[in-house]
Amino acid sequence: MPIELTINGKNIKAEQGMTILQAALKNDIYIPNMCYDRRLKPYGGCRLCVVELEGQKRLFAACSTPAEDGMIVHTETPKLAKARKTVLELLLVHHPLDCPICDKAGECSLQDLAFKYGPSQSRFVAERKHDPERVDAPIVERNPNRCILCGKCVRVCAEHQGVGAINLIGRGFKTKVSPAFEETLNCEFCGQCIDACPVGALGAKPYRFRSRVWYMDEYETICPYCGCGCTTNLSLREGRIIRARGKDGIGINEGNLCGKGRFGFDYIYSENRITAPMIRKDGKLTPVSWEEALQYVAKRLEDIKEKYGPSAIGAIGSQRCTIEDNYMLQKFMRDVVGTDNIDSGARFGYAKAQKALEKAYGVDFMPIKWKAPLKADFMLVVESDITSTLPVWGLNFIKAKNDGATLVVADVKETKLARNSTQWLRIKPGSGTVLMNGMMKVIIDEGLYDKDKASVVPNFDALTAGLKEFTPQAVSSITGISEDRIISLARSYASAGKRLIALTSNISENTKSINTILVAANLAILMGDDPDTVQVPAEFSNTAGMWMSGVRPLSGGKDVYNMLYEPGSVKALYIMGENPIVTFQDAARVEKTLKGL
Ligand code: SF4
Ligand code: SF4
Ligand code: SF4
Ligand code: FES
Repeated sequence: MPIELTINGKNIKAEQGMTILQAALKNDIYIPNMCYDRRLKPYGGCRLCVVELEGQKRLFAACSTPAEDGMIVHTETPKLAKARKTVLELLLVHHPLDCPICDKAGECSLQDLAFKYGPSQSRFVAERKHDPERVDAPIVERNPNRCILCGKCVRVCAEHQGVGAINLIGRGFKTKVSPAFEETLNCEFCGQCIDACPVGALGAKPYRFRSRVWYMDEYETICPYCGCGCTTNLSLREGRIIRARGKDGIGINEGNLCGKGRFGFDYIYSENRITAPMIRKDGKLTPVSWEEALQYVAKRLEDIKEKYGPSAIGAIGSQRCTIEDNYMLQKFMRDVVGTDNIDSGARFGYAKAQKALEKAYGVDFMPIKWKAPLKADFMLVVESDITSTLPVWGLNFIKAKNDGATLVVADVKETKLARNSTQWLRIKPGSGTVLMNGMMKVIIDEGLYDKDKASVVPNFDALTAGLKEFTPQAVSSITGISEDRIISLARSYASAGKRLIALTSNISENTKSINTILVAANLAILMGDDPDTVQVPAEFSNTAGMWMSGVRPLSGGKDVYNMLYEPGSVKALYIMGENPIVTFQDAARVEKTLKGL
């Protein structure tokens, strides 16, 4: 419900349930804050966001005071300036004056607020902290002396990231952020705590002492790894990338990044990168000029085409290359070479998902629905490690669960979502399809399905007949889950208001078949749910773009199974941005085929 309040004489609109700080920020009114993070529950620890409310004598923390209709708020008064100055002085009691050597200087909230409200030193005198820096973990460094104990890192890690690798340990003066027993940090190294820290107490080791912030240029781009497509901000110094960060509220990821997107850019400068074309001469790869390389490739393709025909040539595109590159590859193959033998690693996962979804719903393209988990009140994740494959999308499942939705994970592995779930069903490997069939059987037997929608779907009777064998008893013996739990899972799924089934379908985790996705779709159709309630997102950053640009056989050409696993199927392969020996299944067979070309 909308409400209206006045902040600094300006009438603003907000929503019921917002805090004063949220209402102010939504209306571009800045209130100083250090422990607030819009992704987390209100904490009220730093007291910098204090405001005055007309009719009230005491000061209120804007981040934890609900905004109310008709409220009159003041955020910048002499009384507030004095209060904030005192808070800052207290924070500076123990804080080292490290700015000249701190990587955070120039974008540090404490530095900015101390500059704004006055104290560069504290009037109070107390012992400074002399804890050693912790640089023993691979990526995240900690400087406990700079920590203002706002707890943001701890809360981001536990509440938002679903990890809980660090906490505030010790008491009083000795309190610090640390893993249990002050051991070396051993977490998923997403780096989210680094971005959240308002001061220089947490840092990224690869960035340590590399630059002052004012020497860097920032560029916004899209992370090249997974299918989430997160927006990342690259900081460059003298043309060289030295860090990647998320920016609050920016991109589909709204500032969140995983470890790959944040730290996985050093390969750009790897000495192992091939910087010149190479041709194998006398059994040894030898660097050559581009001219020689192009002529060699053109001549060899021409000879092979002449001798064996165009169908002896094939190409493999890449889910990480741009649409333009992939488009040109398929155009070259089709228009110049004259072959339809073109495919990619998407054959192992995405192609199956597309085929199943097309069969179930008649659509040939189903993009990821980023907010689908946030709209659901019952999420079923079947044999899919979502937070590994699509790490930032996975955060939406944790948020939805924290906000009250039910998250059930059926998986033999203890995935991160399993650890954060309402219920983890440790099914036997590969039995997820059977579990969903068992759920459907219970739902049909108990009449819990959407009778208006499901019973008019073609083949409903065939589905019912096909499920005859999937009694709770039979399903229990295959999945290892008790009959009672199967029945109660089916009932809770059917009684939920908004359901979601989420699966990954990828090259590295390919235990699922087309049938698994079809069964998930059947379950959704049975409940009368929309196609969006079955989510099987693409694995890589440009899987969908590559697929749509035609990197797949369109008129009976050979796919990767033919080209790589049937030796002799093609005589020449043009492989772009892919290393099938490393990323495709059965490396030995792939290597044998490649050696035979
Ligand atoms: S890097 Fe990520 S997982 Fe590790 S402590 Fe920080 S927030 Fe937690
Ligand atoms: S390390 Fe940073 S985010 Fe964590 S409690 Fe200290 S100041 Fe806050
Ligand atoms: S979730 Fe995916 S797109 Fe986002 S930062 Fe990580 S790897 Fe990149
Ligand atoms: S931001 Fe409100 S108390 Fe810290």
